[in-house]
Amino acid sequence: MLTIKLRNKKRGGDFGNITGREARGTKSSRMSLNLEKMDLPPRSKLFDFHGVSMIPCFTDNWENYQNFQARPDDILIATYPKAGTTWVSYILDLLYFRESLEDRLTTIPIYERVPFLEICIPGLFSGKDLVDNLTTSPRLIKTHLPVQFVPKSFWEQNCRIVYMARNAKDNMVSFFHFDRMNKVEPDPGEWSSFFQRFLDGKMVFGSWYDHVNNWWKKKESYSNLHYMFFEDLVENTGHEIEKLCSFLGLSPSAEEVERLSSSVQFDNMKKDKMANYSTAPVMDFKISPFMRKGKVGDWKNHFTVAQNEAFDEDYKKKMTDPTLQFRTEV
Ligand code: A3P
Repeated sequence: MLTIKLRNKKRGGDFGNITGREARGTKSSRMSLNLEKMDLPPRSKLFDFHGVSMIPCFTDNWENYQNFQARPDDILIATYPKAGTTWVSYILDLLYFRESLEDRLTTIPIYERVPFLEICIPGLFSGKDLVDNLTTSPRLIKTHLPVQFVPKSFWEQNCRIVYMARNAKDNMVSFFHFDRMNKVEPDPGEWSSFFQRFLDGKMVFGSWYDHVNNWWKKKESYSNLHYMFFEDLVENTGHEIEKLCSFLGLSPSAEEVERLSSSVQFDNMKKDKMANYSTAPVMDFKISPFMRKGKVGDWKNHFTVAQNEAFDEDYKKKMTDPTLQFRTEV
């Protein structure tokens, strides 16, 4: 097995001789995802799981991940699917490990660096096992769970949680294209039926409206939660990174923030094979790339005038908390 000598530039320290995987923040190569070898199951069907629409690969490992043992320095990245999870994961990963674990950025895909806690393909891998095998500190963990499904250990350990939300219209469009190209997701069908299904909350991980609202309410009782918006990150990446750092107790220099903002721009991430999901064969990039447009306002290319009116009418009824405001253009 590859043995390398790694220097921790930030602390000027030395990790000594350690195996390649350890140096990059995961314990054993056997635990890495081998999606190349994955036999694709047929597209999943939604079913009701404690009042939330789900598919088996996120519920099969329920008991195991509910018993997940969080550590106080774990950082949970929580989002509704397609709200910019990979973007925040990438930012956090660079913030913590760009200096100390350089190798990891070029050799380990983002979905292994920041494992998806609840995912499980029985017999192949589970996100919980991947997290358990992380050797980094902090461990960065991704979840799409609605707040009421988050394993209790995260709350007990008072872990930092970063929640990223995206306006419903763009979130819906992104989800539609994702479901077209991701062969594990339920078949999205035509745009018009997908549109209605989104309004009805019959999506994997449930209703967007419930997700963003319930996580927002959680801030009242749980202060270690940083709620951020995709649109703000598009508009002013540097400022949002500064706010994020302040929440994390980090104080990068202005140059570091500038460098990071530039590294995490859409075009750079789209080119990065370790961030653009091109290594994940469940996704058919011929249908749509994972890093698709990364814009605010693409919904205008999808919504008809009638759909937009119906959407706005319905939105007013569901989004009654005046303190939670989304922007559909910047
Ligand atoms: P689009 O489909 O609208 O392009 P997730 O990671 O939660 O699955 O979200 C994916 C969405 O975030 C995609 O949206 C993707 O392009 C967008 N995204 C990822 N990185 C981005 C970046 N650096 N800048 C802007 N958008 C980004």
